[in-house]
Amino acid sequence: MKQQNIVIIIAMKKDLEKEKELAAKEAVKYLKDNTIIGLGTGSTIYYVIKEIAELVKNGLKIKAVPTSIKTQELAISLGIPLIDINTVDKIDITIDGADEFTKDLTLIKGGGGALLREKIVASMTIQEIIIADSSKLVEKLGKFKLPIEVVPFASTYVHSKIKELQGKGEIRHINNQTFLTDQGNYIIDADFGFITNPSELSIALNEIEGVVGHGLFINLTQKVIMGSTDQVIVFEK
Ligand code: 5RP
Repeated sequence: MKQQNIVIIIAMKKDLEKEKELAAKEAVKYLKDNTIIGLGTGSTIYYVIKEIAELVKNGLKIKAVPTSIKTQELAISLGIPLIDINTVDKIDITIDGADEFTKDLTLIKGGGGALLREKIVASMTIQEIIIADSSKLVEKLGKFKLPIEVVPFASTYVHSKIKELQGKGEIRHINNQTFLTDQGNYIIDADFGFITNPSELSIALNEIEGVVGHGLFINLTQKVIMGSTDQVIVFEK
């Protein structure tokens, strides 16, 4: 009986991987020659990076801005040409992932800890495409704890301000070690319950000294491409 359960869980996981791959294959169809593209971070984006590497080998002319050191290293290892973000004033198209999204294209991001660079890149991007498997679509954001990037010096203060906003935060640890972002900051994963008013919460968090970014992405996305079993579903504004 126990073994049967294990088989079911593995089968479900496999399907989500297939959905990620399907969404990635669809998203790269939007890439054009001679453009600057933003490369997101995470396990879903891994499929995009692999696809782009193939396209580049076959002649696609793009330059990419990575949103994390991890993505940068992977892109370099696969021969994707990069460009320094500080030498461009806009990014034509970015493909990134999400931890949760609603049909109005509001997102929670930052599960992989790259939210600050991801948000900067998204803000500079003309067409932000999010790809996701079907587990990421939610009615209301907030089951996934909201990642908040904080300067270590301010972490206790930010904790107390999160409490004032009726949230409960925990500093992210990985393998018993405090997780550090690519900027050397901490992530506080904050539980606000279901987030009924993302804009209000976003503004309140941005006002806290010591918060350098948070994972609520509002009005930054033009399209979500979601893998669903063996097809893709596109959500647009
Ligand atoms: C990283 C992110 C990722 O896009 C998000 O965590 C989704 O990751 P995955 O594709 O591995 O589920 O925001 O900061």
